[in-house]
Amino acid sequence: MSGLESVAWPPDPIRTERLVLREAEAGDRAAFIELFASADVHTYLGGPRPRDELERAVPEVPGRRPGVFVAVLDGAMVGTVSLDRRDAERPGHIRPEGGEAELGYMFLPEVWGCGYAGEACGAALGWFDGAFPGEPVVLCTQTANVRSMRLAVRLGFVEVERFEEFGAEQWFGARSPLTGAGS
Ligand SMILES: CC(C)(COP(=O)(O)OP(=O)(O)OC[C@H]1O[C@@H](n2cnc3c(N)ncnc32)[C@H](O)[C@@H]1OP(=O)(O)O)[C@@H](O)C(=O)NCCC(=O)NCCS
Repeated sequence: MSGLESVAWPPDPIRTERLVLREAEAGDRAAFIELFASADVHTYLGGPRPRDELERAVPEVPGRRPGVFVAVLDGAMVGTVSLDRRDAERPGHIRPEGGEAELGYMFLPEVWGCGYAGEACGAALGWFDGAFPGEPVVLCTQTANVRSMRLAVRLGFVEVERFEEFGAEQWFGARSPLTGAGS
């Protein structure tokens, strides 16, 4: 999946009620490694990666590309929200040529259950609506990922289809910019 080409990036940091959304910085590297090494975070994302491998492989500033926001709570990174182009080769599309903007999110388990992911995703979708007026956003998550499914529906995504990928049932949804809760 490639990033959002042709967008002015980075935007000014986005402030929500409790968070700041900004592009990744070198000081976020340890939190990125926590995210990538967490078994809880990767239960439905293909499993965690070994920490020693991550320490070697993760770049100095991970996640620095258009469409990737770091969510910061009280000065510390607690998660990421991304908007990327969905690979046309994969199942799940709402237009024949593919390349739809796709929302992704990962938060550290210690902040789950507080509404931070919803707050951050809503703000990122609001940014997207301003940068790409009228464009829909899609989202794909395992049906077994109950927290993610709840978040998707709260953000205004509606089911388009379900299919098998990576040996699991996937829920594929889309959000219209006119009806999305994040706009
Ligand atoms: C998916 C994920 C981001 C959801 O995190 P989350 O914290 O459950 O999501 P939200 O921010 O929407 O928080 C909602 C919860 O906070 C509670 N909450 C507490 N205070 C709140 C507030 N002020 N505002 C909103 N919700 C609040 C809600 O009641 C809800 O609780 P519930 O889950 O018990 O019903 C998280 O589980 C995660 O990072 N998973 C691993 C990565 C992953 O699987 N990503 C999917 C890739 S597509």
